[in-house]
Amino acid sequence: MEKLYITYNQIHETVKSLSQEIISADFKPDLIIAIGTGGFIPARMIKTYLNRSIQTVGIAYYDLNNIPSEKPVITQWLDGADEKLKGKKILLVDEVDDSRATIGFCLEELQKHDPEEIAVMVIHNKKKKKAREIPPQIRHYFIGENFDDQWICYPWDAENIAEHDSLSLQAGLE
Ligand code: G4P
Ligand code: MG
Repeated sequence: MEKLYITYNQIHETVKSLSQEIISADFKPDLIIAIGTGGFIPARMIKTYLNRSIQTVGIAYYDLNNIPSEKPVITQWLDGADEKLKGKKILLVDEVDDSRATIGFCLEELQKHDPEEIAVMVIHNKKKKKAREIPPQIRHYFIGENFDDQWICYPWDAENIAEHDSLSLQAGLE
């Protein structure tokens, strides 16, 4: 599969333009929720522009005995979820919408706590068949960039960040 190398600076610029879109849409979140671990760094970046606090949730496809599971499993959730979410506007953040299984599951779980509204923000969306639809009550789905189905290499996965950045630069020059 083709690989696409993305730098921290590119992500920061994408997050900045996402923040402008969110502000223009007049969506004012009370709370940012990051889906770990891919959503952690993007959520922290968007906090710079929106100045809201971040809570984190964890979803995995392995159970507690490390056995692969068909269905998503919650590995971390919000303390006092009802109190934190009821009547609130939430911005749910992840790095990539791939199969959409994780985001779809997470939206379903968060909706159980009666938030006023949830908007979704992803840095990248892959143009492909999705395991789930975005539910109709989600009015805002903010996407930084749409890509064909390929493997995106994120800077936080790099062991050698200089090499990662130069691979990104080379691809940009081709
Ligand atoms: P989705 O529902 O959010 O679309 O993601 P999906 O469950 O389909 O993806 C399974 C895992 O694969 C996710 O990691 C997702 O971040 C990761 N993934 C999918 N496509 C890419 C890609 O192009 N590049 C990279 N680097 N990762 C990709 P996860 O289980 O949530 O783990 P974590 O990395 O967030 O901790
Ligand atoms: Mg993830």
